Amino acid sequence: MEINSSTGMLGLLGYPLKHTLSPLIHNSFLRHYGLNMVYLPFEVRPEEIKQAVEGLKALSVRGFNVTIPYKERVIGFLDEVSREVSFIGAVNTVVNNKGKYVGYNTDSKGFTRALTARGIKVKNKNILILGAGGAAKGIAFQLVKEGVQKICISNRTSARAEKLAKNLADYSNSMYIDCIDFNEKELLKTVEDIDVIINTTSVGMHPHTKEAIVENPYFYHKNRVYCDIVYNPLKTRFLEYAENAGAKTVNGLDMLLYQACYAFELWTGIYPDANLVEHKCKNALKP
Ligand code: ATR
Repeated sequence: MEINSSTGMLGLLGYPLKHTLSPLIHNSFLRHYGLNMVYLPFEVRPEEIKQAVEGLKALSVRGFNVTIPYKERVIGFLDEVSREVSFIGAVNTVVNNKGKYVGYNTDSKGFTRALTARGIKVKNKNILILGAGGAAKGIAFQLVKEGVQKICISNRTSARAEKLAKNLADYSNSMYIDCIDFNEKELLKTVEDIDVIINTTSVGMHPHTKEAIVENPYFYHKNRVYCDIVYNPLKTRFLEYAENAGAKTVNGLDMLLYQACYAFELWTGIYPDANLVEHKCKNALKP
């Protein structure tokens, strides 16, 4: 594709941005679907984020993604947010709708889509979420929307787990929501009637690849599904333990790909085929 006078601009705002896969993913989609746009990484320092967001509007950007540490802060610079953003409090995708910035969260939908793509259904299932940060919140919200039976939350800082549980209970008054102490004994007891376990913490992420959020082998069983939001490495220690127990696993790259597909659809109206870029991403992640 040649850049010309009508080339549209998309991008990613974050800091730092060294290892992002988003430009690879979106530029591959744009080329495949023959769209005259480019997707650029914008590494913006915290003191310049406001000017950057305003400047992008002045440049008529079609939209952009937002990553760490701006997913919450960017909301203050938007004209409108979607319903899920009002609950989650974090935006990862912004659409420039004729000069009006609208914020969305595609991380949450991307997660459950990654499960469906692997043939895993969450409706009426019992879920254990490890962690209670921004990622946990988005995932939990989507799980409630998709009709899970029970959500248990366990976090190192228990007050955060309790806050998330309360928010979820306010959102869905009919669902069973529980907080679990973050210790092995409690986790082993809880996991007995759990179908899907999700690590939303950064434990196991490069360079700490030898760590798993739970080390005890009895935590891992072939009848459960184990998901990790970490994608570097692709197979975290957590997923390795699960695989060794014969369990089904879903890695963080799947979630990354599907959140990107939903963002791409918001900007272009085309829902792209995630398979187009999966191989490229795996190659880019090779050590
Ligand atoms: P994000 O928005 O990516 O979820 P975050 O809000 O900083 O990031 O949340 C990170 C999550 O990983 C939190 O649940 C954090 O636990 P705390 O609330 O106790 O900080 C969890 N986490 C990070 N490092 C951890 C570790 N070494 N052990 C257990 N939990 C950890």
